[in-house]
Amino acid sequence: SLKSDFQDGAPLNGSSQRLPQTIIIGVRKGGTRALLEMLSLHPGIAAAESEVHFFDWEDHYGNGLEWYLSQMPYSFPHQLTVEKTPAYFTSSKVPERVYNMNPSIRLLLILRDPSERVLSDYTQVFYNHVQKHKPYPSIEEFLIKDGELNVEYKAINRSLYYFHMQNWLQYFPLDHIHIVDGDQLIRDPFPEIEKVERFLKLSPQINASNFYFNKTKGFYCLRDSGRDRCLHESKGRAHPQVDPKLLNKLHEYFHEPNKKFFELVGRTFDWH
Ligand code: A3P
Repeated sequence: SLKSDFQDGAPLNGSSQRLPQTIIIGVRKGGTRALLEMLSLHPGIAAAESEVHFFDWEDHYGNGLEWYLSQMPYSFPHQLTVEKTPAYFTSSKVPERVYNMNPSIRLLLILRDPSERVLSDYTQVFYNHVQKHKPYPSIEEFLIKDGELNVEYKAINRSLYYFHMQNWLQYFPLDHIHIVDGDQLIRDPFPEIEKVERFLKLSPQINASNFYFNKTKGFYCLRDSGRDRCLHESKGRAHPQVDPKLLNKLHEYFHEPNKKFFELVGRTFDWH
């Protein structure tokens, strides 16, 4: 296929590693894996498989761009290289570092309802503990402090999109940061992916027929040259039941920051 860069484990003739022309910068639990997998349906995309953490981890960043390059997939000249590291969005040092690599790079940011993202973030860490047979406190223990919403909880901070977006906008113009609506990507992925194709100036090659709703999974899955696949079982997990009053507090807390974010990006989202 057009997509395979390797034959018997060796890079194909004419392929080489390139620094990314686009990066999925986050947000953590926004649907970054789904976005990368869906985008990878396009023959013009070469995606790094795992999260590289170049710009946010000091020991990686200290290795320099040569190391970053060595983490990239083999690609052909007509392809765009993409990597996704969701932690970039909320890491304050990262925008300047990305800018220093390539000030005209195109960035992809996938966001979902900030409250839902908090629950997803908690669920992720909860299962990380379960996997290691370690206990983990209930979500209420993170969300409540002295009877009030505990706004120091990291997962809440990560959902303050305007705060993190401000850092990025100090280095990149708004029209170089495409925001994917992560809630829409769950409900109906194809239109969101079409918009990404246009933003990246890719030819329209991904089709509605590349997606089908899997009732068992409860999410859209991918169909690629007759091959069906869903995302890993860790994607699309049930979230904890939270007392509606507490959930309401969370919604209220995000109301103002969300408004600020909408003003910042000149666009609204259908969030609580
Ligand atoms: P939940 O597991 O909390 O539902 P990330 O890859 O950035 O960690 O994001 C994970 C989220 O991607 C999942 O969070 C899920 O809601 C979302 N997602 C979007 N499209 C999906 C799909 N087609 N299949 C599975 N999960 C999807």
